[in-house]
Formats: sequence, structure tokens, C-alpha cells
Amino acid sequence: MLPEAARQSESALTFRLARPDDGQAMWALVRAMGGLELNTAYFYILYCTDYADTCLVAEQDGELAGFVLAHRPPGRQDALFVWQVGVSPDFRKQGLAGRMIMALLEQQAQPVRWLEATVTPNNTASRRLFSGLARRLNANCDIAEYFKAEWFPGDDHAPEDLFRIGPFDIESINA
Ligand SMILES: CC(C)(COP(=O)(O)OP(=O)(O)OC[C@H]1O[C@@H](n2cnc3c(N)ncnc32)[C@H](O)[C@@H]1OP(=O)(O)O)[C@@H](O)C(=O)NCCC(=O)NCCS
Repeated sequence: MLPEAARQSESALTFRLARPDDGQAMWALVRAMGGLELNTAYFYILYCTDYADTCLVAEQDGELAGFVLAHRPPGRQDALFVWQVGVSPDFRKQGLAGRMIMALLEQQAQPVRWLEATVTPNNTASRRLFSGLARRLNANCDIAEYFKAEWFPGDDHAPEDLFRIGPFDIESINA
């Protein structure tokens, strides 16, 4: 755990694209913080290998503060689908999730015009995150029912709504 002073030092936060060996720290963060569906460590390592160009980590003093795992869906190569975004509780409500996703969009060599994610109805932070990103990207945000609750095993999975933000031109936003 980082000392309080280090946790609050904004300047020490760095962003970079993910590497395969980040998978373990992502798995550990998701397991510790809850709120996200925990997948296997293998899955995080695989995602950070095959989709490394569309995954980003935020670190402070070598510790994982947050991450974004995303990929370009087959057939929608101009879209980035955010599969998981997570911020360590110490770093929340400081705009980090939004800044990570904007940084990821800005780093893409191949342009992205759509940002997608699924969010459950009760995840207020995530819904506000993606609505806020639509405003920053000066783009529409369509929200539609996507994955039904009954498609998941058991009774405890909420439905997932698809947030589809776009079209946008990241270069004109930063100009
Ligand atoms: C969702 C999550 C990534 C947001 O990270 P964050 O860095 O705190 O988000 P930001 O500071 O960029 O805030 C984004 C918006 O959410 C709002 N928000 C953040 N936490 C909130 C909370 N607990 N309740 C209500 N709103 C919240 C912020 O006020 C901001 O809204 P605004 O732009 O209208 O002011 C973080 O809460 C988290 O890791 N949650 C658990 C994992 C999860 O649910 N991930 C998303 C599903 S993949």
C-alpha cells in the first residue's frame, strides 16, 4: 500500500500501454476491490498480450492505480469496446478513469470514431463516466439494452446496457 502523501501526488501518476506482465496486478486489483467481475489471471494476461495496443495502465511508484482493457471488435475496427475499466479505491473520484480512456483514444495510431462499453443499470459511477466522456468527445451517447439478465447463469447478474458514443474525431477535439 502506498503512503498517503504518495497517493495524493498527481505528478507521479504515469500512463502507458499494457504489457503481458501487467495481467497479474490487474487480476489482484479486481480481486481486492470488488465491483468488477473477476476473470482468471490467464484471461488478464491474454488480454494484455493480444490487445496490448488498446489496453492502458496508470501507475504510481510502480503500483497499479487503474487500468483500461479494451479491444476493437471484429467488424467494427473504428470502435474501441471497453471491456473493463477499474480504478483503485484510493484514486477514485479524481477523474482518473476518464483521463485513462481519453489517453488511450489519443494513443491509437489507427483512428477510433466510436467508444463502446456495457454498463449495468445500477453502476452510477460507470454510467456517469461514459456520459461524461460523450460530452468531452462532443458526441452522441446512445444507450440500448444489450445483454439480458437471463442470459447469465444464476439470478444475480444485472442486465448490461450498451453505451455507444460517437462518431467523433479525436484529433479535432485536441486541436
Ligand atoms: C467506475 C470507476 C472506474 C470510475 O473511476 P473514477 O476514476 O473514480 O471515475 P472519474 O473520477 O473519472 O469519474 C467519472 C464520473 O463518475 C462519477 N463518479 C465517480 N464515482 C462515483 C460514485 N461512487 N457514485 C456516483 N458517481 C461517481 C464522477 O463524479 C464523474 O461524473 P461527472 O463526470 O458527471 O462529474 C471506478 O468507480 C471503479 O473502478 N469502479 C469499480 C469497477 C467498475 O464498476 N468499472 C466500470 C464497469 S467496467
